Amino acid sequence: MLEERAGTTGPNWTLAYDSFEPEQEGLREALTSTGNGYFCTRGTLAWAEADGVSYPGTYTHGGFNRETTIMNGVPVLNEDLVNLPNWLLLELRIEGEEAVDMSNVELLSYRHEYDVRNAALRRVSRFRDRAGRETTLETRRFVSMADMHQAAMQWTVTPENWSGRVEVISSLDGRVTNGGVARYSRLEGRHLDPVSPRTFGPEIIALEARTRQSRIYVAEAARTRVYGEDGGVLDVRRGLYQMQDYIHQVLSFEVEEGRPARIEKMVSFYTSRDSAINEPLTNAGKAVGRYGTYEEAFERHARAWDELWDVCDVLVPRDDRVQLLLRLHISHVLQVCSPHTADLDAGVPARGLNGEAYRGHIFWDELFIYPFLNFRLPEITRGLLMYRYRRLNEARAAAKEAGYEGAMYPWQSGSDGQEETQTVHLNPKSGRWEPDLSHNQRHVSADIFYNIWRYYEATGDFEFLLDYGAEMMLDIARFWASIAHYNPERDRYEIHGVMGPDEFHEKYPGSDEEGLRNNAYTNVMVAWLSEISLEVLDLLTERHRKALSARIGLTDDEVGTLEEMSRKMFVPFHGDGIVSQFEGYEDLEELDWESYREKYGNIQRLDRILKAEGDDPDKYKLTKQADAVLLFFLFPSDVLRRLFERLGYDYEPEMVRKNVDYYDGRTSHGSTLSFIAHAGILAGIHPESSWTRYMVALESDVGDVQGGTTQEGIHMGVMAGTLDLIQRGYLGTEIRDGTLYFDPKPVGNLDGLSFPMRFRGTPLEVTLEGGELRVAAQADGLNQPVKVGVNGTVEEIEAGESHTFVL
Ligand code: BGC
Repeated sequence: MLEERAGTTGPNWTLAYDSFEPEQEGLREALTSTGNGYFCTRGTLAWAEADGVSYPGTYTHGGFNRETTIMNGVPVLNEDLVNLPNWLLLELRIEGEEAVDMSNVELLSYRHEYDVRNAALRRVSRFRDRAGRETTLETRRFVSMADMHQAAMQWTVTPENWSGRVEVISSLDGRVTNGGVARYSRLEGRHLDPVSPRTFGPEIIALEARTRQSRIYVAEAARTRVYGEDGGVLDVRRGLYQMQDYIHQVLSFEVEEGRPARIEKMVSFYTSRDSAINEPLTNAGKAVGRYGTYEEAFERHARAWDELWDVCDVLVPRDDRVQLLLRLHISHVLQVCSPHTADLDAGVPARGLNGEAYRGHIFWDELFIYPFLNFRLPEITRGLLMYRYRRLNEARAAAKEAGYEGAMYPWQSGSDGQEETQTVHLNPKSGRWEPDLSHNQRHVSADIFYNIWRYYEATGDFEFLLDYGAEMMLDIARFWASIAHYNPERDRYEIHGVMGPDEFHEKYPGSDEEGLRNNAYTNVMVAWLSEISLEVLDLLTERHRKALSARIGLTDDEVGTLEEMSRKMFVPFHGDGIVSQFEGYEDLEELDWESYREKYGNIQRLDRILKAEGDDPDKYKLTKQADAVLLFFLFPSDVLRRLFERLGYDYEPEMVRKNVDYYDGRTSHGSTLSFIAHAGILAGIHPESSWTRYMVALESDVGDVQGGTTQEGIHMGVMAGTLDLIQRGYLGTEIRDGTLYFDPKPVGNLDGLSFPMRFRGTPLEVTLEGGELRVAAQADGLNQPVKVGVNGTVEEIEAGESHTFVL
C-alpha cells in the first residue's frame, strides 16, 4: 500500500489541487493523466463527457487514422492520433435522482491529487446534494505499469448523514471523437466506427470499435464489483443497456450511514496492433476476468514503478520545488516511454499520449527526449529508433520523389512515415487559415542521425549500429550529399530551400520560393554528420561495408563528397563572429520588441501576431526558438571548435557568449524547447541566468506558461529536456572516445544532487556534494570498468568501486 512504503509519498511525490476550478480542469486532466507507455488516459472526472470543462481522452501509440475534411471545397487530409473509447465512465445515482456531477451538488471539500511515484490519480470530494445528503467520495485510478493491458478504478462511497439505495452506472463509451483542440474543430474529428458491444458473464461488459480508415480494432472490457466493509463481494442487482457504440451496467445496492462501500472497475485494453493476442475483444474479456482486486493490481503496479524509479530518480535534496517537478517530469516521460514501449512500433508523440495537439505526430523532439533514456533505459531508445528504421523505405521514397538520393524523413511522422505536416493551419489570432511550410524543416533527418550516434556512444550497442543504425545514418548522409550543391565561387557546399528549427522564417520576404539558403544549424549538423558517416564506415568490417554499400547504393563518389562536405560546408556569419541563422539574416529589419510587448503582453507567438496584423515575420530579425545557437547546446565547445576549424572558420571561446547574447534578444521562445537550449548553453557562462530559464522550462507545463497549450497534451521534449539538462547542462556530461566526462557547473540549488546512470552497460551512481563529484560503479556480474574524466583527470572505475573527484 502507498502509505506503507517509506519515503515514497509526501510533498515531493504529490501534485495536488484543493479546489475544483472548471477553467483549470483541462490542464489538470493532462497533468494528472495515467499511463504505462502503451496507453494513457487523461485525468478526467469519471462521470464526465466532453463538455467544454472536461475532456476524456485515451490514446495509444500508433493509434492513428486519416480523415479528409472538405474546407471551402478543398479536400484536406489529416492523420490524427485517435481518441479511443472512454473506459472511465462511472456515475453515482442516489435514491433514483439524477447522477451526481459538479453542477448539481455543493462541494464541501475537494482534493485532486496525482501520485507522481505511481502515476496514479486520486480525487476526494465531500458534497451535499439537493436533498441535503452529505457524501464522501474517494476515487482512485491507474493504468498498470505491471500489466500493460490493465487499468483500474476504485471508488469509496461513504454516506455521511443518510442511508439508502444507490446505483452505480459503469460504462464503456465508443461515441467519443477527437475534439480536444479548439483550433482543429473545423477538421473532421470522427475517427471511430462501432463494431459491437458484448458481455462476458454477468459481471463483465465489453466494447469494440474500429478506426474508420486505418482499421485498427480497439477493445475494452470492464468488470465492476461492489465490496462490503468485510472485503467480500456484495451481491448487487445488475441491469444492462447496450447499443452499437456504447454499453453500460447499472449496479444497485443499499448503503448505510457512516459505512463506506467500495466499488471497483477493472478494465482491460487491447488493440489489433498488439502482440500475443488472438483478437482484441476476446482477449480483453479473457484478461479482465482474471484480474484480482484493485489493491492487488495496485501492489504489482507500484512494484513496477519502484523498479523504474530505481534507475530513473534524480535527487535534489536542497530544493523541494525542483525535486517535485523533476519527478513529475520523469513520471510523465515514463507514462509515454516505458519498457512496454520498447516492444511496440512506437515513436514519441511530441505532446505525449494525453492530448490531441499536433495530432499525436512525431517530430524532432526526440533530440531532447532520448538523452535521458540513453543513460537509464536505453532499450527504450533502441525501440523508438526502430520506429524510424521501419520507416526508412518511406523516407527513401520521399527523397526520391523530391529528386534526391538517400532517405529524407518527414518533419511530422505518424503511422507509416509519410509526411504528415498539414498544408494549412489556423491562426487563432486572426481566424484565418494560413499556408504551413514547416515541412521544409529537413533538419529532422540530421537530428535522427545525431540521435542514433548518441545512443551508440552511450550504450556501445554495436549490434544496433551494424543491423540498423549504420544503414539509416548512411542513407541520411546520402540525402544530404544530394540536396547540397557545390558552389565553385565560394568553394563551399550549400543547402538551399530549407527551414531551421525557427519556424517563424519560412522563406525570404516577398519571395515565392519556399525555404531559406544555408541555415547554419542545418549546415553545421551536415558537416558533422558527413564526418561521422566516414567514422561509421570505418567501424564496419570490409565485408559489412561492402554489403551495406551495395544494399543502399552508396558509391565511392558519394563517400568522397561526404568527405569534402565535412570540410567545405558553408556557414554564414555576420558582424563580429555571429553565426547567421541563415544567409541574409543580417539584412532583415530589427523588430521593435518593446512596442509589441507593451501591446500584446505575451509575445511568444509573434508569428501569429504579425500575420494577424497583416505583417510578415519573414521580414524581421526574430526567432521562435533556439536555432543557430542550438549548435552550442548539442555540441560541447571543444567539439564545435574542431568542427569549425575543420571547416576553415575561426572559433574563439567568446563566440558562445556573443551568439547567445545576440539571439537571446531576438528570440520570442515561442517553443518552450528554446528555454532548454538557452539554459543549457548559459549553464557554463552565466549560471544564474541559466537557472532562471531552467525554472521557466521546469514550471512550463505545470504552470501552463503558454496559456492553454498543456491541456492539449504535455510537452515531452521540454519535460525530458529538463531532465537531460541536469546531466548535460549542470553536470556537463559528455562522451568522448569512450570516456564519460563530467564538468559540473556551480549551481547552488543542485548541491547534494545524485542520480543513477548507465554507461555502456555499467550502472553508475553519481553524486555532487560539497565541491566533490563521486562516481560509483555498481557490480552486477557482467559490468565492465568505466573510464570517467573530470577536470583533465581520467580514472578507470572497476565495477563495485567508486572514485571521488575534487572539483
Ligand atoms: C516547435 C517544434 C516542435 C513542435 C512539437 C513546435 O512548436 O517549434 O520545434 O517540434 O512544436 O513539439
